[in-house]
Amino acid sequence: MVESAGDVRAEDIVFDPPAEFAAQAVATADLYARAAADRLGFWADQARSLLHWHAPFTEVLDWSDAPFARWFGDGRLNVAYNCLDRHVLAGHGDRVALLWEGEPGDSRRITYAELTAEVKRAANLLTALGVEAGDRVAIYLPMIPEAIIAMLAVARIGAVHSVVFGGFSAESLRARIEDAEAKLVITADGGWRRGKVSPLKPAVDAALAGGGTTVEKVLVVKRAWDDSEQLAWTDGRDLWWHEELAQVDWEHEAQPFEAENPLFILYTSGTTGKPKGIFHTSGGYLTQSAYTHRNVFDLHPDRDVYWCTADVGWVTGHTYVVYGPLANGATSVIYEGTPDAPKPGRWWALIEKYGVTQLYTAPTAIRSFMKAGREIPQQYDLSSLRLLGSVGEPINPEAWLWYREVIGGGRTPVVDTWWQTETGAIMVSPLPGVTAAKPGSAQVPLPGIVVDVLDDTGAPVGRNESGLLAIPEPWPSMLRGIWGDPHRFHETYWSRFSDGPSGPVYFAGDGARRDHDGDIWLLGRVDDVMNVAGHRLSTAEIESALVSHPWVAEAAVVGASDETTGQAVVAFVIPRARHADEAAREGGVDELRAHVASSIGPIARPRELFLVNELPKTRSGKIMRRLLRDAAEGRELGDTTTLTDATVMKAIADRVRH
Ligand code: PRX
Repeated sequence: MVESAGDVRAEDIVFDPPAEFAAQAVATADLYARAAADRLGFWADQARSLLHWHAPFTEVLDWSDAPFARWFGDGRLNVAYNCLDRHVLAGHGDRVALLWEGEPGDSRRITYAELTAEVKRAANLLTALGVEAGDRVAIYLPMIPEAIIAMLAVARIGAVHSVVFGGFSAESLRARIEDAEAKLVITADGGWRRGKVSPLKPAVDAALAGGGTTVEKVLVVKRAWDDSEQLAWTDGRDLWWHEELAQVDWEHEAQPFEAENPLFILYTSGTTGKPKGIFHTSGGYLTQSAYTHRNVFDLHPDRDVYWCTADVGWVTGHTYVVYGPLANGATSVIYEGTPDAPKPGRWWALIEKYGVTQLYTAPTAIRSFMKAGREIPQQYDLSSLRLLGSVGEPINPEAWLWYREVIGGGRTPVVDTWWQTETGAIMVSPLPGVTAAKPGSAQVPLPGIVVDVLDDTGAPVGRNESGLLAIPEPWPSMLRGIWGDPHRFHETYWSRFSDGPSGPVYFAGDGARRDHDGDIWLLGRVDDVMNVAGHRLSTAEIESALVSHPWVAEAAVVGASDETTGQAVVAFVIPRARHADEAAREGGVDELRAHVASSIGPIARPRELFLVNELPKTRSGKIMRRLLRDAAEGRELGDTTTLTDATVMKAIADRVRH
C-alpha cells in the first residue's frame, strides 16, 4: 500500500478551487444541499435531465428485495440511443465523438453522426447473427473504435456484453466465456503495443479449442496485419467483421428496454480463485455514469476534449471512456498503445495535438512519469489541460502534487476519484469547482451518495480514526449481482456488517481513515485482493495458477508495496520434492513466473518468486500472509507467536534477503 497521510502532513495542504474555474464550473455547492434534502428525488431529477426515456419511470428505487436493487424500475430506455441518436437529433451530429489514434500513428475522427451510423449497422449484424436481447457477447479487442462500436451495438439490441481485457490469457478468456455462456465473440487479429502486434485471435482460437462452449460465431476485426494469412481460420465459425458489415443495412431503430435490463458483465478478481462476474443494468448505471462524468470532470461538451486513458477492458473504460462521455455528448481522445511508444512523451504529444482539456489516469502512470523525469512532459505544450483526475489506487501526496504542478502547470484542480467495478461509477471525489482539494485524499462522497467509515463492530469511526469503507444506502449504478452466483453476492458484499436503518450495508473491501476535517483517505484493500498498477488481482487466483504447474506443491502470494505500481505480486513456492532440482536450476523461477503470465495474463506475472521449504501457517493451517508481506517488503517480522513453527519465517526472511 502506498503511504498516504504520512510524514508530509499532507492533510494540511489544501488548494482552493481556482476562482476562474469555480466561476464556470458545472457542479456547484447547492448540489450537496439538494441531494441531502431529498436523495431519491435528486436521483430522479438526474435520471430525467441527463437521459432520454422512451417510457418515463414513476418509481425511483425499490429496495424491498435488498440487496437486489431496482432503480427507475418501470422506466424504459435504450442505452445506445442515449449515447448516440439523441445527440444527432439534437443537432450535434457533426460534433466529434472520438478522436482515435493508433499506436503506429494512424488516426480517425468519428463524429456522432458517423458513430451512430456505425453502431446501427453493427446492431443489424448482431441481429443477423442470431444475437437477441439478453444474450451474452464476449468482446476481446484492442483500443480501437470497433471496441466501442461493438459495446454500443450489443447494448442497442438489449444484449449483454462481457468485455475481456486484451491482456488476459486464452485460459482467462475461456473461463469468462464459459461463465457468461457467451454466444458470440468479437475480437481482432491483434492490436499494436510497443511497436509490435499483440495477437488476439490466436488466443480466442486457444480459448475455444476442443469445443464445449456456447460460442457459435467469432467476428474478427482486421486491425494489425495487412496480410492475415498467418491467422488460423475455422470455417463456419470465424467471420470478418468488415465483410459481414458490408452485407447488412445501415438503418436501425433503437427499441426501448427496461431500466433493469442487464447491460454488461465485467469480471473482477475476488478473494477466491474464481473471478466474479459483476453485472450492471441500464437506467441506474447510465444515470450515475453521466452525472459523475459531467460533474466530477466539469464537462462542457461543446468545447472540451476529454481523455480517459483506461482500456475498455476495465470498468474505468466502460464508464469513463464509453458510457459517461457518450451519454454526455463529449468529444474524447482514444489511444491504442502504450505511453512510451515509439518514445516516452507520447501521451503529452497527444495532449498537445488534440488540445486535451481533461485527463483521467491512474497513479501508477503518474509515478512512472515522475520517475522518468519532468523534462519529458516539459517539452510539450500542455496548457490546454484544465482538470486532472486520478483513479484505481491510492495516490500518494507526492505524486498528486507532481501531477498538479508538472502536468497541470500548477493551475488545474486534481480530482482523486474512489470507486470500484462493483459501484459502477465514482462514489467519493471532490467536486472540482467546489471542494478545496487535499493531495492524496478522495475526500467526500458525491452529492446523492452516502459513504461511511465503520469500525469492526459496524460503528462509525471518529475523526483521526481508521476503519472500513462501507456504503449504507443503495446507489443507482450499484452492481445488481454476481452473474449466476447470488450466494457469493450476499457473502462478499452484504454480510460483513449487520443491517443499518435502510437495510443491508455494502462492504467495499477497502480500509479508510477520516482525517481531522472528516475527509476520507483510502488505505488500500483489507482482503486478499491486490492492486497492481491499478489492476485488481486475487492472491488466490495466482496461487491456483502456480499450483497448476507440475513442479509446485504449494504456493502463497502477497501484494508487496512497490514504488511505481503501488503493489507488486510476490510469490512463495514450495516445490514438489521430485521437481525441486528443476525448479531451483537457472531459469526455473522464471519458468514459474511465465506460467502465471500465460495462465492469467502478463499483468499477473510475479515481480519476484521465492522457492521455500515451508510456509508460515497458524495452528489451524491458515497461511500468514501478513508475515510474508513483511518479509517481501524487507521489514522486521511481526508477531510470529501464533505460528506452528516460528523458525519457518526466519528461513524465509533470510532467503528474501539473499
Ligand atoms: O482498492 C480500491 C482501489 O481499486 C479498487 C477497485 O478496483 P477495480 O474494481 O478494478 O476498479 C478500479 C477503477 C475504479 C478499490 O476497491 N481504488 C480505486 N480507486 C481508488 C482506489 N483506492 C484509492 N483511491 C482511489 N481513488
